[in-house]
Amino acid sequence: MSFQTFVLAAGGASFLLGLLFGALSGQTLLRILLFSGTMAGLLFSVRAIRRTISRQSASALQNPLTIKAQGLFDDLFDPMLNGLIRLLREKNEVSGRLAEVASRFEGVLEHMVEGVAVTSPNAQILLVNAAFERILEVSSTEAVGSRLGLVIRDVAIHQLVEEVFRTRAKVVREIEFSGAGKKKTLNVVATVSETKDGSGKSYGIFLFYDMTTIRGLERMRKDFVANVSHEIRTPLTSIRGYAEALTDGALSDPELSRKFLGIISDQADRLSRMVNDLLELSRLESGTVELRLGKIDLGVQVDRMREVFSSRLEDRQMQLKTDFPRPFHYVSDESLIELVLTNLLDNAVKYSPPGREIRIQARQKEGMVTVGVVDNGPGIPREELPRVFERFYRVDRSRSSSVSGTGLGLSIVRHVATILKGRVEIRSESGEGTTVLLHLPQKGLPTSILPSNL
Ligand SMILES: Nc1ncnc2c1ncn2[C@@H]1O[C@H](COP(=O)(O)OP(=O)(O)O)[C@@H](O)[C@H]1O
Ligand SMILES: [Mg+2]
Repeated sequence: MSFQTFVLAAGGASFLLGLLFGALSGQTLLRILLFSGTMAGLLFSVRAIRRTISRQSASALQNPLTIKAQGLFDDLFDPMLNGLIRLLREKNEVSGRLAEVASRFEGVLEHMVEGVAVTSPNAQILLVNAAFERILEVSSTEAVGSRLGLVIRDVAIHQLVEEVFRTRAKVVREIEFSGAGKKKTLNVVATVSETKDGSGKSYGIFLFYDMTTIRGLERMRKDFVANVSHEIRTPLTSIRGYAEALTDGALSDPELSRKFLGIISDQADRLSRMVNDLLELSRLESGTVELRLGKIDLGVQVDRMREVFSSRLEDRQMQLKTDFPRPFHYVSDESLIELVLTNLLDNAVKYSPPGREIRIQARQKEGMVTVGVVDNGPGIPREELPRVFERFYRVDRSRSSSVSGTGLGLSIVRHVATILKGRVEIRSESGEGTTVLLHLPQKGLPTSILPSNL
């Protein structure tokens, strides 16, 4: 046995004895003595180990066989060293696997459509994902650390939190509240459950599925059905009423009969126009409209429209003027542009008082062509302007009721503009006439059909 091995064994034994007696003894002085002995033993051991290692490596360099002479040292330390290395390797593997699981968890969380919030039992937010930030219009730095009830200021959320932690059962409920930005009302289906971690600590798991768009579309569909029913019922009631009046005796009065039959015919026209407009709108909305782009000469197109409107223009002593060079070539879908011009001219003719002038203007600038219809009619109050493109919307129904219409014309115009990747603009003020402009992009269209002037 070498000196080093002896010192090592002595140090180790003293260390163990120190531990044993120190634990058994109750006397402070003895404890101090034993502790000092232990520390001295440990110190010796460490120094001996260091010396042995440095000598071993030096002799290994000179003669590898001398290592064998250090048998006890190897026997004692190799398993310890190997064990330590294995432990470190396992720890590394475990932490590697943990990091992989954590990154996979984060990936799933960040790509979820549902907003996720993990909270403490008193609903303090511990973690949120990207969808949560988007749906609830709040950043994670604002959310984490706050109470969920402060992020979603709604009594429903308080009740939900309270219910989940009281009943410990999963709760699914749709809630409606205004978002943090307070710009819009949010419809969210919340699924809330409680979970426990390995140490038995409780957490609230909140899943939020955004239903705002779906609910908005449902509302629009309901409004639409209600509007159609209402709009159809009005002329139908009128037709039935006058038909009954005729059968009830008015038929014997030729003048009254003619008047009533005229009303019935007008109302039937109105119904048929409405059905046509609805069919047109549904065709445009279906997304199946096939674009037939081609080179159009606006002058030729306007001449055709003038013919269609000639009798109405004559009846109302109106002039249709043009304000664009001839020829004026551009690229678009001819039948869709005709649909737009028909609706805009129809409005200009029917809403303007007799004798007024209507103008069709066109400009071409920076890859855009703008075609517009200008009238000197009664105009539209500024506050009503944003609504005129809504389906069935008619400004001041009492004023419009004397003029037949469905309130669908400008909706059709806006749909066409969208289909042509352009936009529609309306400029008007009460008593100042109305200008409706259709802006059509000409860039990116097939060059084979692009006119030379574009
Ligand atoms: N040129 C115009 N002058 C005055 N008001 C207009 C004009 N164009 C549209 N409006 C107003 O906008 C409303 C919506 O127009 P539109 O969608 O074409 O429906 P409709 O003509 O069938 O009533 C009309 O009811 C009318 O009140
Ligand atoms: Mg109209």
